Amino acid sequence: MTTVTEIASDVYRISTYLGSFKLQFNQFLVRDDEPLLYHSGLQRIFPQVHAAVAKLVEPKNIRWIGFSHYEADECGALLRWQAIAPHAEAVCSKVAKFVSVDDSLSHQPARGMSDGEVLETGRFRFRFLHTPHVPHCWEAGMLFEETQQTLFCSDLFTHPGNVEAFTTSDVVGRFKQGLIEDQKGPFANAYPYTAQTASILSRLGGLQPKTLAIMHGSSFAGDGKQAIGDLAQAMRDVLGAPLNPVSVAA
Ligand SMILES: [Fe+2]
Ligand SMILES: [Fe+2]
Repeated sequence: MTTVTEIASDVYRISTYLGSFKLQFNQFLVRDDEPLLYHSGLQRIFPQVHAAVAKLVEPKNIRWIGFSHYEADECGALLRWQAIAPHAEAVCSKVAKFVSVDDSLSHQPARGMSDGEVLETGRFRFRFLHTPHVPHCWEAGMLFEETQQTLFCSDLFTHPGNVEAFTTSDVVGRFKQGLIEDQKGPFANAYPYTAQTASILSRLGGLQPKTLAIMHGSSFAGDGKQAIGDLAQAMRDVLGAPLNPVSVAA
């Protein structure tokens, strides 16, 4: 079942739980003069997501489809959206645009965003932040809606289970526990911890988000700077040191 929850004014979380992944897959519809959908979603859930979007806006009027990086849950159904919304342009990093999206994914050239560039959709202002390898992939980026301080943070804070739509409680503990479990299985190493990770997270925290639009799990409302700081610590704890130190013979 797909559910719809308003997490900030005219920002709607559209959530589908897939038991095979033990994860929720969330898209976010921002209702404005030029409606923006963040994450196209997987092709397999397109009918449900489309029906949910249709309750909020006329789907053919979707103007922008934003996403962080080139994975199926981020942008796999982009072509299906563009088939019904002919003016819908992809919004992603310049790297995503040039390396992948314009070649194989989109009916029309993507809006490739530079770091710090702003996209206005009417009342709302989306600032693009290029975040290489955060949460993962070279082309990764995020949108920060400045008027309500909502950070669309993709796979950051991922936590498992069919959890509540919205919480003001800690989400970092859930993330850390899920990360520790994932490191033992086939989905280990989903989050590279690079020389830039700490500074990118610090920059995101400096935006002082009030709402975190999390792709897998509950959305969070509260002190976003504190939450991102706690997330950075959790990632450093779990990922920042070699899991299997290699001894080098003299
Ligand atoms: Fe991802
Ligand atoms: Fe994801």
